[in-house]
Amino acid sequence: MTKTSELPARGASSTNPGLPGKGAGGTDSGLPGKGAASTDRERIADRLLRSTAARSYDPELDIDWSAPPEPGKIFLPEHRSTLYRTPLWDRLTPEQRRELGKHEAASVAGFGIWLECILMRLLAKLAYEENPATRHVQYALAEMAEECRHSTMFARLIEWMGVPYYAPPRHIHALGRLLTTTAHGPAMWGAILIGEEITDRFQREMATDDSIQPIVRMVNKIHILEEARHIGFARAELTRSAAKLSLGELPIQRAMLGRVAFIVARHLISPEVYRSVGLDPAEARRVALANPAHHETIRYGGEKIVAFLREAGMIGPPATHLWRKAHMIG
Ligand SMILES: [Fe+2]
Ligand SMILES: [Fe+2]
Repeated sequence: MTKTSELPARGASSTNPGLPGKGAGGTDSGLPGKGAASTDRERIADRLLRSTAARSYDPELDIDWSAPPEPGKIFLPEHRSTLYRTPLWDRLTPEQRRELGKHEAASVAGFGIWLECILMRLLAKLAYEENPATRHVQYALAEMAEECRHSTMFARLIEWMGVPYYAPPRHIHALGRLLTTTAHGPAMWGAILIGEEITDRFQREMATDDSIQPIVRMVNKIHILEEARHIGFARAELTRSAAKLSLGELPIQRAMLGRVAFIVARHLISPEVYRSVGLDPAEARRVALANPAHHETIRYGGEKIVAFLREAGMIGPPATHLWRKAHMIG
């Protein structure tokens, strides 16, 4: 458990500690491309590449997956459970509440893998279409590598918890495939941010909570640290692409984003999780979707990304009602 109690000082990138001043970012003189570094886009990507080289993790090595769950520790804060404070919740024993939290955490991890697979395909599309001898394409490749490790980490977490993989429903799975081919511009970056920032908010809350299983906290800490770079990159790309958006495209992009927000809010938790504590999935889902405490959880998760997308003009007609239905705006 020693490895999981604290983030190690160095992660995967530390395997070359002796390389003198030669990280992915290199020095200013080492920037590739002709004059590309003078752009903001390249400067941001260069800074993120340096940060990636200085601090990144390999969850296969940095997490002690052989450590068993700690008795009495939980997998998800109770107040983030979808049924919290409902009559169904009141009927559950403390052990059942802990078990439900474990399955809900697994559902979020499974949904996270689905989101990251979409994200990796979007980043691969960017790398395929643009000049790889630029910092921003190289950063997209570095981010893909991190997302790939994250997905493996979430998959190992599910395996470690000994619970099922809760996949999104088939129609959502199909919509995800469609998104990878159709998403572009600010809606593409906004969709990425919705997935990243909502989970980031919950993970930050859990990372400092001593009642949570140490391995879950370690997974969260690694993800928070690396996602901070991804969020910075996607926010900058969104702002850049939103500035170029035509008035005709704006409603289409907003509609796509509203749909993504609604899907994320509705499918983070699979109804199948309720079987783990003997509840009927359809009935428990109805209760969860009507639960004010769950609405507040979704609002809390979306608070930062909603503020950012509003500022960027990406929340509005014709999709305002979808954000409202998702309980991300009032
Ligand atoms: Fe990730
Ligand atoms: Fe990410």
